[in-house]
Amino acid sequence: MPPRTTPIDESEAIRSFLGGINVSKLTNDEFKLLKDAGYSAKAIELYMEKVNVGVIENPDVSLAYTGPCGDTMKLCLKISNDTVIEDAKFQYLGCPAAASSGSAITRIAKGKTLEEAKKITEQDILHELGGLPEAKLHCPKLAVITLQKAITTYEKLPKKTMVTAK
Ligand code: FES
Repeated sequence: MPPRTTPIDESEAIRSFLGGINVSKLTNDEFKLLKDAGYSAKAIELYMEKVNVGVIENPDVSLAYTGPCGDTMKLCLKISNDTVIEDAKFQYLGCPAAASSGSAITRIAKGKTLEEAKKITEQDILHELGGLPEAKLHCPKLAVITLQKAITTYEKLPKKTMVTAK
């Protein structure tokens, strides 16, 4: 039986669409499905390369949120000095746009203060991704709400006792 997927075609058309983006794990079938559905090269790259997908050991906060569509995102954050998002990773159960949005929002949030991160919008994610298919324009909301809830949850946690050396 022939394989169901084939390695990525190095054709001029695909290379031109990807614009030099590294999508080593992509197969022709997956690429075609996503491209035909209207995903941008950037959104495909983040989805296929699983950028910032994972967990942080001993995060300062970890929170899962399920949106109205039924998709779930779990976000964990490492926060330094009670102020700056030092690291952000996510897991998801959902569509490729949820994955791309999770990658985008974690990229955007890293290095930002909590106050700055609270202001990240769906438009910021769409901008980072270079757009999403029309039917998927609501998906960044899952990432935005998850981040906002994670920050709110963190802010309600009892503050760690600061120990200073004598
Ligand atoms: Fe639910 Fe995309 S359909 S986040």
